[in-house]
Amino acid sequence: MAGDDPVRDAARRASTEREVVLATAAGGEVPVLLRSARLGRPPWVLLTLRDQAGTRRMEQELRRHERLAMLGRLSAGAAHEIRNPLAGIGTSAQVLLGRFEPRDERARFVRVILEEVGRLDRIVTSLLQYARPRVPELKPTLLAPCIERVLELAAEPVAHGHVRVEVEVAPRLGPVYIDPDLVTQVLLNVTLNALQAMPDSGTLRYEVRRVRRKAPARSAGRRAEDRAAGRRRPRGHDWIASQQVRVIDTGVGIPRHALARLFDPFFSTKPKGTGLGLAISQSIMQEHGGAIAVASREGRGTTVLLDFPMEKRHGQRRQPHADTGR
Ligand SMILES: Nc1ncnc2c1ncn2[C@@H]1O[C@H](COP(=O)(O)OP(=O)(O)O)[C@@H](O)[C@H]1O
Ligand SMILES: [Mg+2]
Repeated sequence: MAGDDPVRDAARRASTEREVVLATAAGGEVPVLLRSARLGRPPWVLLTLRDQAGTRRMEQELRRHERLAMLGRLSAGAAHEIRNPLAGIGTSAQVLLGRFEPRDERARFVRVILEEVGRLDRIVTSLLQYARPRVPELKPTLLAPCIERVLELAAEPVAHGHVRVEVEVAPRLGPVYIDPDLVTQVLLNVTLNALQAMPDSGTLRYEVRRVRRKAPARSAGRRAEDRAAGRRRPRGHDWIASQQVRVIDTGVGIPRHALARLFDPFFSTKPKGTGLGLAISQSIMQEHGGAIAVASREGRGTTVLLDFPMEKRHGQRRQPHADTGR
């Protein structure tokens, strides 16, 4: 028990209510709300302990949400302000480039300006996309062709990194309701991360299969038909028939302390990283009523799990950034 033995102390008083942290037999800690009251005669003491761990988690989650909302507003504002002057710099540099002979030494510097303007523009676009995501247009789509498309887009880094690619798709998989462009973007983000984790060589593997996933409270969205009919969900666990894409790499892996921060916007361990790839991917998955999870072992590799519900669902629209105006 922590400190001055709060339970014995509470038993001595007429009535108390305080929060204490109790040590568990397993060596962990549980925050509890401790209430005591004297009753009857000889004075009995009624002690109640309420586990606060769930409440704490919710408070933490809420604080994280507020923090992300503020980050979203800030970055959207900054991105918006940067975009126009950047366009001005880009067009002027383009005009300037036209004035030089191609072999002119000065043209080289202008090309550097244009390249860097392009890089800044991509960052600004990601920021705006993170802060003001577009609503997905769900339509029945097969996942395998999305993977093929991503492999076309990533053909250059795949070849460059001497990466072996394997794709295994379970037979007779039907379509899922997704926005193919947004999901392709998620797959591309995850694929690029995998490739960047295997700079010399390695194996990149995609597996697509049917799975059943336990619905997390509320965040899974509701079935469209249930909503329309005003039907209540049955009690007990809600199992969601889903299709899962696993993206498996044999790269550097992710250290434990970094795992908790992967989805935080701007968390990056790369010199030129924006740290927005996984943050954007997570919000896209949530808006599909799906989920993204990462498992990794340092030095061994990383697996990213993407779950897509098979029915048409109302995903969780991120409200925090909806009030960023325009
Ligand atoms: N497959 C992976 N292998 C190793 N580390 C990864 C992988 N995917 C993500 N990460 C880690 O997560 C961080 C955040 O990824 P992301 O949001 O895509 O931003 P960025 O790629 O711009 O750094 C990366 O900087 C990297 O440290
Ligand atoms: Mg990335």
